[in-house]
Amino acid sequence: TDRTFTMLKPDSVEKGHIGAILEKITAAGFKISAMKLTQMTTADAKEFYAIHKERPFFGELVEYMTRGPIVAAILEKENAVEDFRTLIGATNPADAAEGTIRKLYAASIGENAVHGSDSDENAAIEGAFHFAGREIF
Ligand code: GTP
Ligand code: MG
Repeated sequence: TDRTFTMLKPDSVEKGHIGAILEKITAAGFKISAMKLTQMTTADAKEFYAIHKERPFFGELVEYMTRGPIVAAILEKENAVEDFRTLIGATNPADAAEGTIRKLYAASIGENAVHGSDSDENAAIEGAFHFAGREIF
């Protein structure tokens, strides 16, 4: 079975959307293999999003992702990476399909409620970034 990595971003935690978003995730057939409330430091966010470091929104992204706690989780399901990206919807909620998590809970492209890994390789890297082996079930 495949795994993906997700974060319920600071806006989701601030707005009290943790429960509703987790309900959507489990109802879609994902099993939770690891989960915790945590907060990224500036150094963490810069490393996690290093691929975007030349983009004009990088500073804003790091500010956003570090401003409060997130829920980090590893999710298990067949075809996990692709199916989770479908469940969350487009990066910009204005373009996200009806019923997707970003359509329902994201405010803007900059504050878009959730993260989902974009490949199996990145899912493994991102899961290991946030969790020790003994925290993964
Ligand atoms: P993630 O699952 O969070 O990686 O989102 P994504 O894969 O749908 O988008 P991408 O990896 O291209 O961008 C990473 C994150 O940067 C997005 O989820 C947004 O939070 C942020 N971001 C992307 N584009 C913009 C933008 O134009 N402006 C701002 N402020 N933030 C952006
Ligand atoms: Mg991405």
